[in-house]
Amino acid sequence: MKALCVVLTCCVSLAGAQAPDSLRVNGARISQHLQALSEFGKNPQGGVSRLAYSDADHQGREYAMRLMREAGLDVSIDLAGNIVGSRAGSDAGLKPLLIGSHIDSVPEGGNYDGDVGSLSAIEVAQRLEEAHIKLRHALQVIIFQNEEGGTIGSKAITSGLDDKLLNLKANSGKTIREGTALCGGDPNRLAEARRAPGSIAGYFELHIEQGGTLEQHKINIGVVEGIVGILHSEVTIEGFSNHAGTTPMDQRRDTLLSAARFIEKVNQVVTSIPGRQVGTVGWIRVQPGAYNVVPGKTVLGLELRDLDASKVETMFNRIRDKAKKIGAMNNTSFNFSEPIVTHPALTDASFQKLIDTTAKGLGLTTKLMPSGAGHDAQEIAVIGPVGMIFVPSIGGISHSPKEFSTPSDIENGAKVLLQTVVSFDRLK
Ligand code: GLV
Ligand code: MN
Ligand code: MN
Repeated sequence: MKALCVVLTCCVSLAGAQAPDSLRVNGARISQHLQALSEFGKNPQGGVSRLAYSDADHQGREYAMRLMREAGLDVSIDLAGNIVGSRAGSDAGLKPLLIGSHIDSVPEGGNYDGDVGSLSAIEVAQRLEEAHIKLRHALQVIIFQNEEGGTIGSKAITSGLDDKLLNLKANSGKTIREGTALCGGDPNRLAEARRAPGSIAGYFELHIEQGGTLEQHKINIGVVEGIVGILHSEVTIEGFSNHAGTTPMDQRRDTLLSAARFIEKVNQVVTSIPGRQVGTVGWIRVQPGAYNVVPGKTVLGLELRDLDASKVETMFNRIRDKAKKIGAMNNTSFNFSEPIVTHPALTDASFQKLIDTTAKGLGLTTKLMPSGAGHDAQEIAVIGPVGMIFVPSIGGISHSPKEFSTPSDIENGAKVLLQTVVSFDRLK
């Protein structure tokens, strides 16, 4: 009976429409949109600095909303500041299907991270519109705010944001609370932005791989099996600022020396365990910061990642133990801020299969692989099944102006996204 209804609904919504299975994206249009988006926050190195909540981010969001309207989407901003482009489905009893990504960037980032998935999701909606195809499921194209600052927009609508996060300063200098309001959300009504577990049919995100596996193995499409968990902690080292010429070497409380020893230990702890886990100290601030002063205070950022949350916790505990010992060596103290943790997430097995079968049906090669980068999909996994499609990153470079994916690889990824959506709509 259910199958018959599906067939009938399909027939009704297909009157005068192109057959969904034959539908393909317009690759040239995606390239042109990527080029246009790259103007917002363009930097001299060839990439972008489109930091969340900056003017460039605002302009990029305006541009994306314009594209969404042109694609026939009904555009709104949710209470968390995410852009949502909606398209009605023919079966009101079905939960909405979500597709999307983000368009904010890291400082001096590239033109593909997030942008490829966001603009391809809009292209999917555009092609469905042009072909007069009405899916059974309502479709929502979502561009999440501030992915690079800790998957903030997607976290807001799933697990929620606490005061600690809302008061955190993003790279643009604005707090997440201020930024959410700037995006058109309402930080005082975030509870209403939350979506309940089970409230969506699923979420698919297309993204560049950001590593070199697909290119190395000459594979077209990565089918993501899981997304790593990420821990961030700000480490403050206190010592004593004193004259660099008169303070004997054995009487210094040099925090930069402690930081140097600490960074080395982070590397040792992370590499001493078998597996794919990674650990990074990605930024450091030294005070007062002069040739002739022993640095009395150093603050740095520690990041740990793995698919296994317990491994991340073990590494963090070991690193804290090592820090205590390092501090004692030259009379400095270490303080770790309460860690901000994004939990690892597995993608849905049936979604993996659907992406894989769809890609192979389009004549593309595939590989099942983990994601070492964080993604909005891992937050959305809290409320429903998710799937991710990767396309190759040339040279495995990302978070850099040198980030690049070829137009044909991007077109392949968008093709897979479109046909995965079509198949999902037919099957689920
Ligand atoms: C997001 O790009 C992350 O992995 O940090
Ligand atoms: Mn990204
Ligand atoms: Mn990124």
